[in-house]
Amino acid sequence: MKGLILSGGKGTRMRPITHTAAKQLLPVANKPILFYAVEALIEAGIKSIGIIISPETGEEVRQCVGDGERWSIEIKYILQDQPLGLAHAVKTARDYLKDDTFVMYLGDNLIKDGVAPLVERFKTNKPDAQILLKEVPNPTSFGVAELNGNGRILCLEEKPAKPKSNLALVGVYLFTSKIHNAIDEIKPSKRGELEITDAIQRMITKGEHVDSHVLTSWWLDTGKKDDMLEANRVVLDEMTDVSMLGNLDEQSRLSGRVHVGKGSILKNCTVRGPAVIGADCVLENSYVGPFTSIGDGARVSHAEIEHSILREKCQILDFNGRIEDSLIGVNVELTRSQSKPVAFRLMLGDDSKVEVV
Ligand code: DAU
Repeated sequence: MKGLILSGGKGTRMRPITHTAAKQLLPVANKPILFYAVEALIEAGIKSIGIIISPETGEEVRQCVGDGERWSIEIKYILQDQPLGLAHAVKTARDYLKDDTFVMYLGDNLIKDGVAPLVERFKTNKPDAQILLKEVPNPTSFGVAELNGNGRILCLEEKPAKPKSNLALVGVYLFTSKIHNAIDEIKPSKRGELEITDAIQRMITKGEHVDSHVLTSWWLDTGKKDDMLEANRVVLDEMTDVSMLGNLDEQSRLSGRVHVGKGSILKNCTVRGPAVIGADCVLENSYVGPFTSIGDGARVSHAEIEHSILREKCQILDFNGRIEDSLIGVNVELTRSQSKPVAFRLMLGDDSKVEVV
């Protein structure tokens, strides 16, 4: 069995953050989202993974993930010239996939229980395809399944205006080679994409066995800023260990589950976990609250930060204010010339320079 991770696409919903970076490389608890997908597939026993990349961000993805050596597996990159849909991505990977069974994993999705139990189920039930569903409050944003009373799929629709249920298609699918024939038989949707949802519907229409499983644990599609913050919250919330590899002065306090990376310096700071502070950060006279991740090399002084993601090398200096529910890109410089305490909610792309007066 192979793995196919989709890390192409345009990432327009995460702009300005994704003007300069692939959305699948944005960090959750200081680790790129894509790594969670790779590790979930490895945990399921998969040793060969193909990653779909786009011309815009492919090189960055390749540099970051590498050839798989660090996990002792093989990773191949497959260039999709244009983001013409999830089924188009599978078509592009046809030579890599051959007639093998495979797990397709959308590179911006995170699921709690990983892929191993799904692979087990697939091997036991031997369906032609297996999909994963989850009840959601906003089904119009997803592929939606209608099931009959016995849990059998009646039909699938991509982002329907009038959804027939609240069961969304999760971005993890298991396929036999029959999916390729189905993809050859579908046409682009109204939005101009070859939809994997339509290809699976085609399999159902042909009478092929499509198994479905409704997920009860969490699933996150990290498409927008608030989804990223929620993913960060959920992953940090599940972190069980603590580590302190930096330096802490006598005025500083860490409470709860906190990781501080090598070379980081904390002076007169309080950090209340769950929180992760990367390597080589300098934090002074500041408070870091729960559900916050701070990337390597960041500098923070006179600030309160909570429920936020600060990326590598960002600088928030002499801020005299509170930052919450924020996503701050790489290398951002954020300063403030007033000392009246206020709170900010921000989404700042890489290399931004912001002075609040
Ligand atoms: O997240 C689950 C949803 O994912 C499902 O409920 C939908 O049925 C499915 O169509 C998909 O919808 P999205 O609109 O969220 O897909 P998105 O365009 O965000 O793409 C998902 C991932 O696949 C993302 O990492 C980018 C990548 N991708 C996307 C396209 C369109 C590619 O690699 N190539 C592509 O052509």
